[in-house]
Amino acid sequence: MDVDLIIRNATVVTASDIWPACDIAIKEGAILSIGSNLPVSEDTRVLDAEGAFVTPGGVDAHCHLSQFYNPGPGEPETTPTTDGIIPAKYNFSGDTQETGSLSAICGGTTTIISFANQFRGDDSLVPVIEEYHKLAEAKSYCDYAFHVIITNPSKKVIEEDLQLMVEKYGITSVKIFMTYESAKLNDYQILDVMHASRKLGITTMIHAENGDVIDWMTDNLEVKNMVAPHHHGTSRPPIVEAEASNRAICLSEVMDTPILLVHVSSGQAAKTIRKAQTRLLPVFGETCPHYLFLLAERMKRDGFEGAKYVCSPPLREDSSDLEAMWQGIKNGTFTIVSSDHAPTKYDHPNGKKLGLHGHEPHGKFRCIPNGLPGLETRVPLLFSGGVMSGRITPQKFVEMTSSNPAKLYGLKNKGTIAPGFDADIVIWYPQEKFETFNLENKKLHHSIDYTPFEGMEFKNWPRHTLIRGKVVFSEGKILSHKGFGRFQRRTSSLLARPRDVWLSEWRP
Ligand code: URP
Ligand code: ZN
Ligand code: ZN
Ligand code: ZN
Repeated sequence: MDVDLIIRNATVVTASDIWPACDIAIKEGAILSIGSNLPVSEDTRVLDAEGAFVTPGGVDAHCHLSQFYNPGPGEPETTPTTDGIIPAKYNFSGDTQETGSLSAICGGTTTIISFANQFRGDDSLVPVIEEYHKLAEAKSYCDYAFHVIITNPSKKVIEEDLQLMVEKYGITSVKIFMTYESAKLNDYQILDVMHASRKLGITTMIHAENGDVIDWMTDNLEVKNMVAPHHHGTSRPPIVEAEASNRAICLSEVMDTPILLVHVSSGQAAKTIRKAQTRLLPVFGETCPHYLFLLAERMKRDGFEGAKYVCSPPLREDSSDLEAMWQGIKNGTFTIVSSDHAPTKYDHPNGKKLGLHGHEPHGKFRCIPNGLPGLETRVPLLFSGGVMSGRITPQKFVEMTSSNPAKLYGLKNKGTIAPGFDADIVIWYPQEKFETFNLENKKLHHSIDYTPFEGMEFKNWPRHTLIRGKVVFSEGKILSHKGFGRFQRRTSSLLARPRDVWLSEWRP
């Protein structure tokens, strides 16, 4: 039995186990067997992993690539591209599939799920799915899939396109918003989406913030001239997230539909989710590295620099919120940790500096594009600041960054090291061979001119990244090419299921 590649003497970590001194045999892109002293032939390539942790490749289930930003009130509307090429007029300042996926592999992420964003004016989902396929095809360094953002749940979308999305396109999740003028749905529309999702086995991701509170506060803060970047946080305290999370959970209970609350930032929202889970509702939670490591004080940095940290929900004031996020990982409230990579450049007229122009010297927070870069740093941060710092076990790290996102979103060949699964693998430096370093943005491979994690200490970093058995990143070098990444059709969630428990005589 010819083996293409063997990883020798690894300490293999999965979401459940740690096996010392293991060999992993790989053939035709998949894991063939795991054991000790596995036989090799003359042609078998051998990768020595003595003293190293070997983990499944990261699955980042929340990133925004080639996606245009929802304009704030009073900001110019943008329209979708139709030809798969980003026209110069957008002066795009984020990451594309190419730059985003390149940064993914350099940080140990082998599969990404980004968003195909329906624009309010579209009555259909098909053109937008086709468009994002064109933007990704032949461009991706890593394997990829899409969620669809629904901003216009028209009759056609609900009754026809969602079924096409699942059956023709293999996309089994949608994201909806409770805030942002250009994206938010009212409760009636949310029920429409949930109703269809339940029938089709779709997992509904929800951005839970109360948009009306945010809009009212933003208007009132402007009257008071409280518009500097950190007042982004003033306009949306934790209760704004907690209220919307609770409302989303209530709607999902009415409809008996599984939901995932994305990018949870506060202890209050985490508590609401945990309460629902204790009642056995199919409610899942996601948090992100920035809510585990960064606080709101960063938005107060000199002049307009704080804009680099403006994201929604905002970084929180109190370190008890950071602790609550770690606790939520440990006690199972959170099922996944995703990057919510939603970057724009800082020093760019269509990036963070949109919030400065005409509003010098401190800018106006409502004009700052929301979101932070974090695709390349997610896995190393969780390994260094989570595992190496003793906050979480290696198994928990694998569960949150790889296995659970794969199961939650129906990526059936991804997320673990086991025979038959894709050989998507990260080999870490043996700890004694790694020199701790402080991160500089120039080390990263995204197209963004800053990282919110600048200066942070890293105790380890992926040494080799493999996708389907091919070494794509090794000791700082890129050994692959764009177009190597393959689109992944997905099944329904392996974790999220309706319960068939009802609150009245009504049935769907
Ligand atoms: O601030 C963020 N997260 N912006 C990106 C869009 C979103 O809500 O995920
Ligand atoms: Zn969101
Ligand atoms: Zn996002
Ligand atoms: Zn403005």
